[in-house]
Parts: sequence; C-alpha cells; structure tokens
Amino acid sequence: MNQEQYNFSFEVYNSIAELSPEDAKLVTEARKVTANAYAPYSHFNVGAVAQLKNGQTVTGTNQENAAYPVGICAERVLLSAAATLFPGIAIDTLAISYDNKNGKSDHPISPCGICRQTLAEYEERVKQPIRLVLSGQEGKIYIIKKASQLLPLSFGGEDMK
Ligand code: THU
Repeated sequence: MNQEQYNFSFEVYNSIAELSPEDAKLVTEARKVTANAYAPYSHFNVGAVAQLKNGQTVTGTNQENAAYPVGICAERVLLSAAATLFPGIAIDTLAISYDNKNGKSDHPISPCGICRQTLAEYEERVKQPIRLVLSGQEGKIYIIKKASQLLPLSFGGEDMK
C-alpha cells in the first residue's frame, strides 16, 4: 500500500487594502456586479469578474429560477459568456464575491462542486490555470493559484482517451 498526499495551500489577506491594485480592482468590480444577480429565492447575490489574457474583462452573476435547479451560479454564467465572447482566450484571474441580503457578507465563499468541475474543464480547454480571488463585501480574501486545486482527483477528458 502507498499513501498518497494532496497538498493544498492558499493565500489569506486581511482585507482588500493588502491586495495589488489589479486584484483590488477586480474584487471591487465583483462586489459591485452582485447587484446584477437575479436571486429572488435565495436572496444570495453572487458576482464574478474575470480578467482575460487579452486584457478584456467578463462578468457573471447568479440567475435563479422558480424551478430551483434551473438556476445557474455566477461562475458558470461567466465561463459560458467568456467562452462565447472570447473563444480560446485564457482567464488569468477570476474574482468572486457575494452580497447576502439575509445576513452578513464578511467572509470569502468558494465555488460549488459543479462550478469547480466547470472551472477545471476551462483550464484544460485553454491550457492555463485560473487564479481565484475569493471575498465577501468585507473581511478576509483568499487567493488560490489554480481553480482545479479545489477538485483533487477530478474526472476529466483525459480519462476518456
Ligand atoms: N451561488 C453562486 O452563484 N456561486 C457560488 O459560488 C455559490 C452559490 C448561487 C447559487 C444560488 O443562486 C445562490 O448562490 C444560493 O446558493
């Protein structure tokens, strides 16, 4: 028997003030774009902003539906938009934030399982890691070097060859 180990580390910042100007700008935009979410059921507005390799930015927000499972997370709205508007262009950094209308928005959230799988596929597709910057409207900020680190031993296209 061999014991394998998965090591995962990430950066923790105390506030937006500790970030580089580029990251701070993305976080500010992600916080603001939560206003475009359609979340009448959860009242949990999520916003995402991607900095693309070609200099463009793309945003996404969660879009809910009365038939609950039809709703889409901000991250997947963003990835679909990016792939459609700028096919083949890598995402350097993706900032995700939220505004919880029923409570606090004072700690980072990280993508759900389906979004992790979608992010991993995007990295594979354009052959570049997506750096994540996770935050609330205030409080600590997490930076993760590569989105797929959030999904160890994941299933991917390679497995089907
Ligand atoms: N949601 C996102 O958009 N992204 C996440 O990372 C977590 C959850 C959305 C889905 C749903 O509309 C609401 O937040 C509550 O789960």
